Amino acid sequence: MLDLKRQYRPIHQELLDAVAAVLETQQFILGEPVAAFERAAAEQLGVAHAVGCSSGTDALWLALAAAGIGPGDAVVTTPFSFFASVSAILRAGATALLADIDPATFNLDPSAVETVLNGPRGAAVPAILPVHLYGQCADWTSFSRLGKERGLKLIQDAAQAWGAEWQGMKAGALGDAAAFSFYPTKNLSAAGDAGMVTTNSDELAERARMLRQHGMRRRYYHDEIGWNTRLDGFQGAILGVKLKYIAGWNAARRAVAARYDALFAAAELAEPGPYPAHGVVLPREVPGSRHAWHQYVIRTPRRDQLREFLAARKIGSEIYYPVLEGSGLRRGQLP
Ligand SMILES: Cc1ncc(COP(=O)(O)O)c(C=O)c1O
Repeated sequence: MLDLKRQYRPIHQELLDAVAAVLETQQFILGEPVAAFERAAAEQLGVAHAVGCSSGTDALWLALAAAGIGPGDAVVTTPFSFFASVSAILRAGATALLADIDPATFNLDPSAVETVLNGPRGAAVPAILPVHLYGQCADWTSFSRLGKERGLKLIQDAAQAWGAEWQGMKAGALGDAAAFSFYPTKNLSAAGDAGMVTTNSDELAERARMLRQHGMRRRYYHDEIGWNTRLDGFQGAILGVKLKYIAGWNAARRAVAARYDALFAAAELAEPGPYPAHGVVLPREVPGSRHAWHQYVIRTPRRDQLREFLAARKIGSEIYYPVLEGSGLRRGQLP
């Protein structure tokens, strides 16, 4: 689906120089390139703290654990995401409660979350975990209101949403904390696994830094169990270079999305939706928000035929996500 070499070629010398600089220092774990990337990332997002770690999955776990979510707690999230959105909640020792999505944006529906909060398990919920799926922010106006009204923490899964905005604020600067993934296919990507927690809370940032290093504040004194989930120097250096280009790359994605929109419209295939009748329902950018176009996702009743048609013409497509099954989640539980 994605030809990473096209991104690599124009900046390969800059990346090689950044990697060589890490080799010169022989400082491979955290260190200055990671700290520099964390500072630049926080500045770009307009958030107080950025804490690099070893994957988006770990970033989700770190954000939850730093926010004090653990055994006895339940967290409401979406069933329509990559498995890590749910597994991080389970890994933190909490229970995942699933609420349905908005059929137009595919994101967690605030009114469905409210129904879950009013249900039998609602009292056990200290946090909501919306996912900015495909690079579009979940309805943050409603989630902020819900969080304030009910005294709930809001943790964003922003794995797919570097550069997305909600009413002028960047994904990552919303709510209590956010988790980013820099998996190689993400908009902003490392040369391996990497992730980051962002937050405006001094306390949460300090806890995330402590938890990513075996719960250590002072060397060999382990205040909590924590984990080893540090960002390594090579990834910090590579991400530091790519951070300078991401705005341009996201603008190019936006232009491609606009072109798809125009071509579907010109072919008279576009339908208003949210459910398709004969043609294609196009993705829609919510007014007041900015889509990062991690994926351009369409709906069509002839999905498999269309995929065959595209494959025959060497055009890649994928189904994100066909099912979510495992760890007590059953197919059909939330159709
Ligand atoms: C929505 C979402 N959440 C979490 C993750 C987990 O990130 P990672 O693969 O870096 O662990 C991903 C990406 O894989 C994702 O797309």
